[in-house]
Amino acid sequence: MSESRPLEGKTILLMGVANPWSIAYAIGQAMLDAGATLALSYLDERMKRDCEKLIKDSPESKLYPCNVENDDEIDALVEAMKADYGTIDGYVHSVAFAPAAELTNPFRETTRAGFNTAMSVSVYSLIAVSGKIVPLMPNGGSITTLTYLGADRAFPQYNVMGVAKAGLESAVRYLAYDLGQDKIRVNAISAGPVKTASARGIPGFSSMVEMFGERAPLKDTFNAKDVAQLAVFLATDGAKAITAETIFVDNGYHAMGM
Ligand SMILES: NC(=O)c1ccc[n+]([C@@H]2O[C@H](COP(=O)([O-])OP(=O)(O)OC[C@H]3O[C@@H](n4cnc5c(N)ncnc54)[C@H](O)[C@@H]3O)[C@@H](O)[C@H]2O)c1
Repeated sequence: MSESRPLEGKTILLMGVANPWSIAYAIGQAMLDAGATLALSYLDERMKRDCEKLIKDSPESKLYPCNVENDDEIDALVEAMKADYGTIDGYVHSVAFAPAAELTNPFRETTRAGFNTAMSVSVYSLIAVSGKIVPLMPNGGSITTLTYLGADRAFPQYNVMGVAKAGLESAVRYLAYDLGQDKIRVNAISAGPVKTASARGIPGFSSMVEMFGERAPLKDTFNAKDVAQLAVFLATDGAKAITAETIFVDNGYHAMGM
């Protein structure tokens, strides 16, 4: 392992690349630059093409289909990684979904079906996959998910996704407790707003970006690459004592009252 390639020799499961704007795409690029091999899962054939682009210069990296709502597909992913790599060293979960109506309707009209979908895709998937990859991480490792300040504060139209992110951050703490004995660390990165396909589906997203630019202490640019740097660090041995944390990468926005 060299200082410039701190993930040399590590294989990381990366879930959540939809297109080049995805936060996971930037994380994948940064991890490849840091020397990692990626086991990349994709939701559908259209997304598979962008995943192929991401790993085109990394012959060791491989692609696997996985809809996290389907337990058989999660099992097949874990079996395939076991056959291909034997063991892995990390997992990045950059997956979330809520039906569009749940973000456009008033929060009080949240449906049971929409609530269940948001929780299943955005929260339960982290628990399900983390539990199943423990045998693939006999030497310990790192699990990182992506969250948003909407877990702690009410953002207009973020609605059930805010409830899901609160659940996700809690799941991070419970997983960190449960997997600590296996030397597996579990953390969340709370990212500032990045213009991705999912973000554009949130009706108030442009106001979030505007407020962010006005109020964040760091009057600087902000993009997915800034988030990716922390994801790389959390996967390195340098982060060996960090677990159960939600770490903000948001130009300091979360600290502001006004
Ligand atoms: N963009 C932002 O401003 C922002 C801010 C903070 C946190 N986040 C979080 O970052 C993560 C990534 O989102 P993004 O903004 O990069 O958007 P994105 O749309 O690029 O990524 C979302 C991913 O979720 C995947 N996904 C959805 N349903 C799935 C399913 N059933 N099975 C497997 N995969 C599924 C999609 O395929 C996609 O790759 C999400 O958890 C999001 O909440 C985003």
